[in-house]
Amino acid sequence: MAISSTREIPVTGAIPTHVAIVMDGNGRWAHARLLPRTAGHAKGVQSVRRAVETCGAAGVKYLTLFAFSSENWRRPADEVSLLMRLFVQALEREVARLQEQGVRLHVVGDLSAFEPKLQELIAQAQEKTAHNDKLHLTIAANYGGRWDILQATRALLLARPELAADPSGLDETSLAPYLSMAWAPEPDLFIRTGGEQRISNFLIWQMAYTELYFTECYWPDFGEEELHKSFEWYRTRERRFGRTSAQVHAVAKS
Ligand code: IPE
Ligand code: IPE
Ligand code: MG
Repeated sequence: MAISSTREIPVTGAIPTHVAIVMDGNGRWAHARLLPRTAGHAKGVQSVRRAVETCGAAGVKYLTLFAFSSENWRRPADEVSLLMRLFVQALEREVARLQEQGVRLHVVGDLSAFEPKLQELIAQAQEKTAHNDKLHLTIAANYGGRWDILQATRALLLARPELAADPSGLDETSLAPYLSMAWAPEPDLFIRTGGEQRISNFLIWQMAYTELYFTECYWPDFGEEELHKSFEWYRTRERRFGRTSAQVHAVAKS
């Protein structure tokens, strides 16, 4: 019987272990203030700082932020280049602060599309923070969930070419180690700011059983209070992973 690899019910304590956020609404935040869209992106960097601090203080172990999707290249060239500049700036300015806070930085996505300088900064920042483990901060950049599944499949077939001849040996647990966030547990809580209720090709494999929280709040306005509101909501969820409520209660008591 083929069953999902998401077998165990995670301990649903007060705080989610892994929070994944689609940081949306920067453009509309700026538009409402008669500012250029890029001003919204610049302001959004402050919300990233706040989210890292709040999650670290609350005991979240993994925070994953969608910064640039594989589809965002379709935006006007000047907006794309501003986003790249902000990314470079953040890597140059924020790494010392991450170090102080015990944050380990990971960047996932198809990094080969970025300029060599940006790739170099990413590699340096990952290396510098590699010994931290209070909070794992993952930035998804030029990331797409479909890209992730495809790159994992290619890597798996390269490592185990016999699977191509006999795919019956291929299961979820053989593919999972090749996904780009294989080191982390699957997200417990997904947050999307900005009012849209969609995944937009984020961690589509990993979020099979993630609790989905949507808020109208634009990302530049998203702060400590909003984040705690999402944690409160998460606390009220019953995660069943296909079981009945009675079964979940029985497991919780045992
Ligand atoms: C999210 O804000 C930031 C990125 C996608 C990089 P948007 O730029 O999508 O803001 P809206 O959705 O246009 O308001
Ligand atoms: C999703 O936001 C990607 C990021 C936040 C980086 P978008 O604003 O690009 O998503 P769509 O196009 O509205 O679905
Ligand atoms: Mg958007």
